[in-house]
Amino acid sequence: MTRTTITTAPIAGQKPGTSGLRKKTRVFMGAHYLENFVQAMFDGVGGVAGKTLVVGGDGRFHNDTATQTILAMAEANGAARAIVGQNALLSTPAASNLIRTRGTDGGVILSASHNPGGIDEDFGIKFNMPNGGPAPEAVTNAIHARTETLDAYYIWQGAPVDLSQLGTTQLGAMEVEIVDPVSAYVDLMRSLFDFDAIAKMIAGGMQIRFDAMCAITGPYGRAILEDALGAPKGTVTHGTPLPDFGGMHPDPNPTWAHELMAEMMGDAAPGFGAASDGDGDRNMIVGPGCYVSPSDSLAVIAANAHLAPGYSGGLKGVARSMPTSAAVDRVAEALGIDCYETPTGWKFFGNLMDDGRVSLCGEESFGTGSDHVREKDGVWAILMWLNIMATTGKSVPQLMQDHWARFGRNYYSRHDFEAIETDKADALMSGLRGKLHDLPGQTFGPLTVIDADDYAYLDPVDGSTSERQGVRVVFEGGARFVVRLSGTGTSGATLRLYLEKLDTEQLNLDPQEALADVIAAAETVIGIAAHTDRTAPDVIT
Ligand code: G1P
Ligand code: ZN
Repeated sequence: MTRTTITTAPIAGQKPGTSGLRKKTRVFMGAHYLENFVQAMFDGVGGVAGKTLVVGGDGRFHNDTATQTILAMAEANGAARAIVGQNALLSTPAASNLIRTRGTDGGVILSASHNPGGIDEDFGIKFNMPNGGPAPEAVTNAIHARTETLDAYYIWQGAPVDLSQLGTTQLGAMEVEIVDPVSAYVDLMRSLFDFDAIAKMIAGGMQIRFDAMCAITGPYGRAILEDALGAPKGTVTHGTPLPDFGGMHPDPNPTWAHELMAEMMGDAAPGFGAASDGDGDRNMIVGPGCYVSPSDSLAVIAANAHLAPGYSGGLKGVARSMPTSAAVDRVAEALGIDCYETPTGWKFFGNLMDDGRVSLCGEESFGTGSDHVREKDGVWAILMWLNIMATTGKSVPQLMQDHWARFGRNYYSRHDFEAIETDKADALMSGLRGKLHDLPGQTFGPLTVIDADDYAYLDPVDGSTSERQGVRVVFEGGARFVVRLSGTGTSGATLRLYLEKLDTEQLNLDPQEALADVIAAAETVIGIAAHTDRTAPDVIT
């Protein structure tokens, strides 16, 4: 018998209500830390005895070691089978797909998403349910509660499996099936999009640049864009997943994907540019000289999804997170379909998709996806854009101009103030909450407040409520700002200020210019500079 029970002290667990645990890599490498959390996770989901689990991650530092620990613990906790991506690799959407299509009992995904990787950077772990989506709050709360009472974990102590060899092998009494991380996902994409039309467009001279940012989507991008769709080798840049992402910050936004932005804004820009994040669930879309904001991307996809074979019957409905712009709302109205507003975070979309209410979801934070999996999906969004371009024959700038002409334009921007001292950020938020009652009727320059509240959500499917999800201040005429604190940062607090303004006259302004009066009003109301000494955001998207 080589299973061991190790008795340890409880860990400093995850924040209640978050879908997993994200910490500095060295914290995860500390004695018994990962083990304790994995045991709490297994217990929190009702045990894993007899179950089949998918395991894989985005390839960041510690991914392979942690995968071996999880497999050894799954064995000792009685799991029947593990399906693991070769070399412990799986993009988050590919893991979601395997969890669903292989009829498993869920899976463990190792990633800190778009956060940098490396021994001195971030690591993360989360549990996804049999529907392929992140564990809901009831489950994450159970996991959190278990981290506080746990006093032992179980681990198999035999030799680890060779994760580079495809096929089925044994780890103690548990079967381990090592699968190609890419192929099932490519099949799924082929079933949704018109690969022939996209290949024809590429053969006709459409040049593509896909920046995988040294993270997980390199192999997926190469298999799909270069091998299946015929784009030339080298279309995918930074295409090899590296433990430290080659020092890149794999967050696909104009700040961090600056190499792609420079190319797309330059004279020799290809017809289409895109990037994805550490674990492959985020995306950024850029045309030549034309950055597409994620809120606009969601709206364009909603208006055109029926052009892709997987969505030819139309969309059931759409959903967006509250801070995401209302651009998609007007598309939904024109299409006569429902549009749901949810708190920030992908997990709220799962219930709506499982209940058949929506087929398309998106967030302003570079997340877009559909009910093909239960995670957002970067490569999916990129293929959707290529399918729309191939079918309409329109370029990215043309699609945007046509969209704004038809539906109006929501100028949009998010300003992030990072690593603020937590007590200052908390004081700012409570000061703001205290003012909300008095704001309606007040004017700030040309803007008059018509509504101000702290957003609360009632889930229409399970009746659960989520409160204090972000302060919104709405002005007459379709402008607003939203303020909330990030739930995913690992050092201090990150303040996010979301700014939006509707334009129905096609003014064609720079977004920061168009939003100048909303930005000024937000500063007057919130007092960011007074509370934090910050006079400019760290990241503007
Ligand atoms: C951020 C984004 C949010 C996204 C989450 C996970 O969360 O704002 O939209 O769902 O990352 O990718 P935040 O740090 O704002 O809590
Ligand atoms: Zn991600």
